[in-house]
Amino acid sequence: MNIHIFDSQEKLNEAGARIIIGTVQMKQRAVLGLATGSTPTGIYEEIVREYNRGLVSFSKTTTFNLDEYVGLPIGHPESYRVYMQQHLFNFIDLPPDQIHIPNGSLEDTSVECKRYDERLAESGQIDLQLLGIGHNGHIGFNEPNHALLRETHTVTLREETRQANARYFKSMDDVPTQAITMGMGAIMKAKTIMLVVRGADKAEIVHKALTGLITTEIPASLLQTHPSLVVLMDAEAGRLFQS
Ligand code: GLP
Repeated sequence: MNIHIFDSQEKLNEAGARIIIGTVQMKQRAVLGLATGSTPTGIYEEIVREYNRGLVSFSKTTTFNLDEYVGLPIGHPESYRVYMQQHLFNFIDLPPDQIHIPNGSLEDTSVECKRYDERLAESGQIDLQLLGIGHNGHIGFNEPNHALLRETHTVTLREETRQANARYFKSMDDVPTQAITMGMGAIMKAKTIMLVVRGADKAEIVHKALTGLITTEIPASLLQTHPSLVVLMDAEAGRLFQS
């Protein structure tokens, strides 16, 4: 495990962008696993900046997003597809047919989960998986549980997860109760995982996940067993690693 703690958000964003861009430059047909939430936005901004300087092309890159809400219509402003368009995809040369995000608007989500795993299998291994962490230790939407699933699946969101994401919706009632998430299989199979953590409110969970017991009750703790894990944290999130 390779832990880096940064004294500014700018430096963290630059480092995160450099790792993603480096992966795309090194491999002809790189496969990226992408995340949403507040954590990666600065990294995406930095990638767009570097793209505009002509330093990278995504024309041969394939992307898989970790998750999507169930029940939001296509084009809903809080859907993760719209998030990705607004933060990254609208500004780079990634061909739309090389973008994969679970479709949470379909009636039968199990068909979509199966289809997603088939696409993942066809693309082989994810070269770089970007991850954030939830306050309860979830990754993607793999919520704490007595067992975790390997495959892409539909998950009922925990109340604390819905509350954490309520800030983006008009009211708590508008926050979806379910999501489709990539399972632990595809995440753990990624060649390299880059976990990004920001803010004092994540300090305890990230410390527990990376130094405590490995347990499905803290899904991110499984990352301890990954052979190539890079962790980027700001000083607040990394507080307990520095003492
Ligand atoms: C969300 C997403 C995760 C994200 C996490 C943290 O619910 N499903 O992919 O990493 O929770 O979100 P944030 O970065 O906004 O703190």
